[in-house]
Amino acid sequence: MSVSKSDFNYIRELVLERSAIVLDDGKEYLVESRIGQVAETEGFGTIDQLVKALRKNSHNGLQSKVIEALTTNETSFFRDIHPFETLKDAVIPELLENRKNERRLNIWCAASSSGQEPYSIAMVIRENFPVLLDWKIDFVASDISETMLNRCRSGKFSQLEVNRGLSAALLVKYFEKEGASWFIKRNLQEMIHFQQINLSRELPYLPKMDIIFMRNVLIYFDIETKKRILNQLISILQPDGFLFLGAAESTINLDSSFERTDYKHSGCYRLKR
Ligand SMILES: C[S@@+](CC[C@H](N)C(=O)[O-])C[C@H]1O[C@@H](n2cnc3c(N)ncnc32)[C@H](O)[C@@H]1O
Repeated sequence: MSVSKSDFNYIRELVLERSAIVLDDGKEYLVESRIGQVAETEGFGTIDQLVKALRKNSHNGLQSKVIEALTTNETSFFRDIHPFETLKDAVIPELLENRKNERRLNIWCAASSSGQEPYSIAMVIRENFPVLLDWKIDFVASDISETMLNRCRSGKFSQLEVNRGLSAALLVKYFEKEGASWFIKRNLQEMIHFQQINLSRELPYLPKMDIIFMRNVLIYFDIETKKRILNQLISILQPDGFLFLGAAESTINLDSSFERTDYKHSGCYRLKR
């Protein structure tokens, strides 16, 4: 399905306003393929008809479907691997020491997509830190997309998905096979609370976080939105907490309250003291 210039502009303003995702010129092909698919499923003959319904707001939930269709949900287990090694070798050991009196750890995975990232963090904890079984762990995984959150909650992954980044040992230990799918075991699933959070809006109340994973999502936003989000993190991150961003993301030139700490293979961001 093709998209006219005015329909493209309408869709990109809607998506910017609702999710802060920036669709640059030249992304018409993305709108044609993804919104074309939404139009088809929702019974519209053309993207133009779908946009007319959007303009009239006559179709319940259509806006959310359009926004969800334009999010990029690419993810995998232990994506980029090094941040998870840093988590295991440096970050959690330091927090074990710093929180040994409270015996409490708060973790937020802020763009969890279909769940591979929060479940990878949960596996790092279960595999390496049995002592944390006795601690209170408050682990929130969030995303703007309800569809993605439902996938997270289901803990269901295809063979292709578990083939990406997961060792055979972890697969058999933490997943159960049912037909062609793999389900994460309940003890891992129960560690995590899933919540819809739109990062482009004022953030809801969250407890002070020891660890924040906000990886591969800032790249979709403009500079002002990145600044606004990082600014909100200042009051959410514990003074000695750790912020993980994606490999192509940084706080540099966006917020001077953070500084990068480098570990063996990867870095993370901490509040300047
Ligand atoms: C590329 S995925 C990253 C997943 C995971 N963090 C990783 O690195 O593998 C980006 C995710 O950000 C979510 N997202 C996009 N805009 C968002 C927003 N405004 N608020 C919260 N999540 C958003 C998308 O739904 C998508 O699941």
